[in-house]
Amino acid sequence: MNTLDVKDIKVLLSEEKIQNRIQEIADKLNALYQNEEVYAICVLKGAVFFAIDLLKHLKMPLKMEFIRLSSYGTGFSTSGKVNAVDISLPDLNGKNVLIIEDIIDTGLTAKFLMDFMHCNFRTKSTIFCSLLDKKVSRKTEIEPDYYGFEVDDKFVVGYGLDYEGYYRNLRFIGYVPTK
Ligand code: IMP
Repeated sequence: MNTLDVKDIKVLLSEEKIQNRIQEIADKLNALYQNEEVYAICVLKGAVFFAIDLLKHLKMPLKMEFIRLSSYGTGFSTSGKVNAVDISLPDLNGKNVLIIEDIIDTGLTAKFLMDFMHCNFRTKSTIFCSLLDKKVSRKTEIEPDYYGFEVDDKFVVGYGLDYEGYYRNLRFIGYVPTK
């Protein structure tokens, strides 16, 4: 499939809807952590817009880390295998860890990350927060602790999510109608 025309992308979640929901999630996280220090881990590249907007609302002492994983080969389908492109992290023993993802689809990436955390660190807490949750596609038993919106089995783009590297910069989340 060629690059999609932005005009063909239908809005699923508007910028306003996304931002309002992010504020709601931030309120919950502020209440959860109170003033405890948090290590926020943004999963590149897709979660970067969400992470930045979310973290701007958080009030506790916070450090931000980035890791880069990939599971998508080309186009619309997952390769079914998670690759750790860059997963160098500081010592997270005894820390509150907040993992920030763009979308949980099959759940393989989330499971990989949770297993990685458990194998490498004894954190004080590990919370998984995803902007989107595509529950219908799940192939693992993993569930996010917090998520913004449930989406059905559509390939979505925008606000960090890409199709072949494009459309991350859209302010909204949309999909390409198949008919
Ligand atoms: P999972 O391992 O199958 O849960 O997939 C997680 C990753 O696949 C996400 O972090 C996204 O980068 C990518 N992904 C899954 N579904 C979509 C989608 O609908 N649009 C864009 N990227 C997606």
